[in-house]
Amino acid sequence: MSEKTYDVPAEWAKRAWIDQAKYKDMYARSISDPNAFWAEQAKRIDWMHAPTKIENVSFAPGNISIKWFEDGVLNVAWNCIDRHLHKRANQTAIIWEGDDPSQSRHITYKELHDEVCRMANILRTRNVKKGDRVTIYLPMIPEAAYAMLACARIGAIHSVVFAGFSPDSLAQRINDCQSKVIITADEGLRGGKKVPLKANVDAALAKADGVDWVVVVKRTGGTVEMNPSRDLWYHDAAKMVTTECPAEHMHAEDPLFILYTSGSTGQPKGVLHTSGGYLVFAAMTHQYVFDYHDGDIYWCTADVGWVTGHSYILYGPLANGATTLMFEGVPNYPDNSRFWNVIDKHKVNIFYTAPTAIRALMQSGDEPVKKTSRASLRLLGSVGEPINPEAWEWYHRVVGDDRCPIVDTWWQTETGGILITPLPGATKLKPGSATQPFFGVVPEIVDADGKVLDGETSGNLCLTRSWPGQMRTVYGDHARFEQTYFSTYKGKYFTGDGCRRDADGYYWITGRVDDVINVSGHRMGTAEVESALVAHEKVSEAAVVGFPHDIKGQGIYAYVTLMAGVEPTEDLRKELVTWVRKEIGPIASPDQIQFAPGLPKTRSGKIMRRILRKIAEDEPGSLGDTSTLADPAVVDDLVKNRQNKK
Ligand code: PRX
Repeated sequence: MSEKTYDVPAEWAKRAWIDQAKYKDMYARSISDPNAFWAEQAKRIDWMHAPTKIENVSFAPGNISIKWFEDGVLNVAWNCIDRHLHKRANQTAIIWEGDDPSQSRHITYKELHDEVCRMANILRTRNVKKGDRVTIYLPMIPEAAYAMLACARIGAIHSVVFAGFSPDSLAQRINDCQSKVIITADEGLRGGKKVPLKANVDAALAKADGVDWVVVVKRTGGTVEMNPSRDLWYHDAAKMVTTECPAEHMHAEDPLFILYTSGSTGQPKGVLHTSGGYLVFAAMTHQYVFDYHDGDIYWCTADVGWVTGHSYILYGPLANGATTLMFEGVPNYPDNSRFWNVIDKHKVNIFYTAPTAIRALMQSGDEPVKKTSRASLRLLGSVGEPINPEAWEWYHRVVGDDRCPIVDTWWQTETGGILITPLPGATKLKPGSATQPFFGVVPEIVDADGKVLDGETSGNLCLTRSWPGQMRTVYGDHARFEQTYFSTYKGKYFTGDGCRRDADGYYWITGRVDDVINVSGHRMGTAEVESALVAHEKVSEAAVVGFPHDIKGQGIYAYVTLMAGVEPTEDLRKELVTWVRKEIGPIASPDQIQFAPGLPKTRSGKIMRRILRKIAEDEPGSLGDTSTLADPAVVDDLVKNRQNKK
């Protein structure tokens, strides 16, 4: 923890949308009269019918129901495109920067309109209707934005699956929401390497039913197999349709998208977000947290496969008429200066990235940063995991030349938008703290029994009130929604995060307290990795925990018990890593695999993960009470054979 603080620079307090006094006043109003506050905020978007009912929410056990602006009618794509055309037709909406530094494009709002309408018409002519699900499995190319906005335009619900996921993960997500159409590309391109997306879709569709059409965007021109009764090239289909497509009238609570995310149990959940509340919240947080002003060039380095890409590459910025940069590549290709070169090339003012990228780049020293100018930069942001104070200080001093405030934004797929964050013109910064709640957000810290803890304290983070960007349900499983988020502490939303509040009322997120691990800012359920491991014929049992990792934040540590008679060899270890990559995707690769003849279990057969975590963290001295184990001797063996000893 760092005790250093950074005051709001005077020029920021003057020019920002929100200064300290305004934050205090607006926050107080957002709590004392949420209906009036959010009715006012709803005016930031265009409605076909303005809402008169604002908040209608129940967190009561057995009756979890979340509705915002429910009688409002709007279209999200219209708000992100058409309403800007009279003023911004020729303004750049999206700057696309390719994996190869020689490739970039500027797409104006008018061009965006035409391309989105084309894509929407392709879907319409394939009989995609309001409420139908469309799975998008695309790299970071403009067509990913067109596809998402095209769905929004015709009222289809998009489910974007990160292009790093395996065919099995893709199939499972297609099946869960019963998509009729998949939009993909021949291949993706990242760091000079090709990713076989169409081939992955073909493999996934061998395991998924009900898909009528696969729309294929040509990205690399690599050879792919086309099934003439199912697959169509986007560029061919686009020639057959017009650039006009009426925007569907959508109710505020009509679904906008599903995004799958990992939890502590079972398969990933389909987090469902709806139209009105989500858009108001994404637009508002984008404007205030990043202090976005007309003409700013804004870059969020996330992938559209994650919620950060949804809310802060696409929906928030475009609703605000911003210029948003979309980057196909990776931070270290062709070299470690790539981010900073892109900032100079496009004169980026606002830069939003993840701590894991900062830590990785920090390792190669200051020189790759310092040889670039970065004079255009005004504000830096961080998201996805706790940022350690050393990385924060480096980001501030080296990347931001001690000039740019850092907004450390805490939120989740489930929250739709940023909930705890500094506002750059209002909030004194403390490196490593996400600082203060955004408007309408009421954090509460509770102990394991649900007792509310006041003042300076630490415990589990809950939110006692709804906000318009909150997820509405788990797609197709409302009982799971209640069970996951509202059953641990009745009457409030439980985030799954641990949190400390300091004497100044600042919040410090300490990481997940459930069986979710955060690897390079990607959420991974330990149960998912375990079920991938036990699907291997030589594995009898597996237990997966997180451990501290210098760059990734957390790494994946797997304890594996082999079938009787199977030899624990180095080759088998490698084979299991490859197996998990194939089953889930590279982001789930175990960093360490320890062969364990036995796992620590209670007499009732429950694995004691607490003990496994301590061993993985290399803290055998703090294993705690092991006397309740069925066989305490297994612990000695595990400690003795720990991988990667300090
Ligand atoms: O543990 C928190 C961590 O990321 C989790 C949410 O992951 P996901 O749904 O994938 O969304 C990531 C992008 C919003 C949270 O439960 N997390 C996110 N931002 C921060 C963070 N932890 C600490 N500080 C943050 N700024």
